Amino acid sequence: MLALSHSREEFRRRFGGEPRIFRAPGRVNLIGGHLDYNEGWVLPIAVDRSCYVLARRRNDLNLRIYSAHFDETLEFSPDDPRPVAAHWSSYVRGVAWSLAGEVPQLPGADLLIESEVPLGAGLSSSAALEVAAGLALLGLAETAMDLTALALACQRAENEYVGMRCGIMDQLAACFGRQGCALWIDCRTLAVEPLPIDENRVRIVVANTMVKHALASSEYNQRRRECEEAAARVRQTHPSVRTLRDITWPEIEGLSCSWPATLRRRARHITTEIARVHAAVDALRESDFESLGRLMSESHDSLDSDYQVTSPELNTMVAIARGLSGFLGARMTGGGFGGCTVNLVRAEQAETFTPELARRYQADTSRPPDVYICRASDCAGELHPSQFDDQAAGSPPAERSLQ
Ligand code: GLA
Repeated sequence: MLALSHSREEFRRRFGGEPRIFRAPGRVNLIGGHLDYNEGWVLPIAVDRSCYVLARRRNDLNLRIYSAHFDETLEFSPDDPRPVAAHWSSYVRGVAWSLAGEVPQLPGADLLIESEVPLGAGLSSSAALEVAAGLALLGLAETAMDLTALALACQRAENEYVGMRCGIMDQLAACFGRQGCALWIDCRTLAVEPLPIDENRVRIVVANTMVKHALASSEYNQRRRECEEAAARVRQTHPSVRTLRDITWPEIEGLSCSWPATLRRRARHITTEIARVHAAVDALRESDFESLGRLMSESHDSLDSDYQVTSPELNTMVAIARGLSGFLGARMTGGGFGGCTVNLVRAEQAETFTPELARRYQADTSRPPDVYICRASDCAGELHPSQFDDQAAGSPPAERSLQ
C-alpha cells in the first residue's frame, strides 16, 4: 500500500512546490491472450495496484523525472535525441512525444513516479506508467482528451518510441477500468463494455511467479510478425481477411496444411482463443463460472503448446492451482515468459486457496511468490487532494476527470 504523503514530501524535497497526483491501474486479462494485436476481443480487469505520477508544471519545456523504484532522476529537453535502447524513462518521454503531436502547448514538467504495479510481471506496469504520465501532462496543460485517444497515444509511444509493438488492451484497461467489472473490449472497434463479476461467488487471485519476462519484447514482436504472416497467407485465398480475427480455425485448418508448423500453431492459438473468449463472455454474462474457469485453463494450454509463450514457472503455478480446492480456472496473463497467472476461485475458498498456492509454489521452486486476491478497480484519473493522504489501492475513482 503506497503512502502518498511520503511521495509528496519526496516531491517537495526534490523539486520544490506542491504536486498534483495522477493514477493509473495495472491489469490482468481473464482471457483473450495475444488477441489484441490481431484485432480480436479481450476480457481484462483493472487491478487494485496502480502507478502514481506526481506532477508540477515547469516554466520551460523540459521533463525532469524521478523514479522512486530506480532512485534515479533524469532531465530531458524535447530536442534531445531519442534513446537508442528502452529505458524506464522512455515510456514517459514517449508519451510526451506522442502527445506533443496532438496537443500544441504541452508544457515541461517535474514528475515523480511511484508504482505498486510490479515491473515485468505481466500486470502492465508500462501502460499504467504511460497512462498516468499522459494524464499528468494533459492535466498540467489544462487540456482534455478523449480516453480512447489517450490510450491510442500511449500505445503509439510504446510502439514507435520504445519499440515494443504491444496491442491496445493494457492502455484501454487502464483508461476504462470499472470497479467490480471485467471489460469486454473489441480491439478493432475499440468498444468497451463493463461486465460485472459476482464477487460473492468468485474471486480473482493473481499469482506472481517472480520470474521476470526477459524474453518478452523480442519474442512478443516475433509472435506479432508470425500472426501478420499467417494473415497474409490466408489473404491469398480469402482477400477480405485483414487479420486472424476474420477467420476461424476450421476455415484455416485445411488451407494451412503446407504452412511451416510454427505458423500453423500460432494461427490455431489465435483463432481458437477467439472462439474461447466469446464463449467466456457468454459464461460471464450467465455467471456460469465453471465454464469460464474451464475456458481460462484451455487458454493457458493453448498459450503453452501452440503459442509457446509460457515458462516452466507459469506452468508450475497453474498445475498447482489445478489441484487446490476452490479452483475454477487459471492461465498466464500478459505477454508471457514469466510474470503472473490469473486464477478464478470460488469466493468461499479464496482465503485458503491463496496462501496454499503460495506455499506449494515456494516448496516446488524455492521462490517465494506474491499471491493475492485482487479486486477489479476503477480507471485512471487525477486524485482529489482529499484522497492524497490515505490513497491506497482500490480507492474510489478520482473526483476530477479530465474527460
Ligand atoms: C502484453 C501486451 C498486450 C497484449 C498482451 C498479451 O501485455 O502489452 O498488448 O498483447 O501482452 O495478451
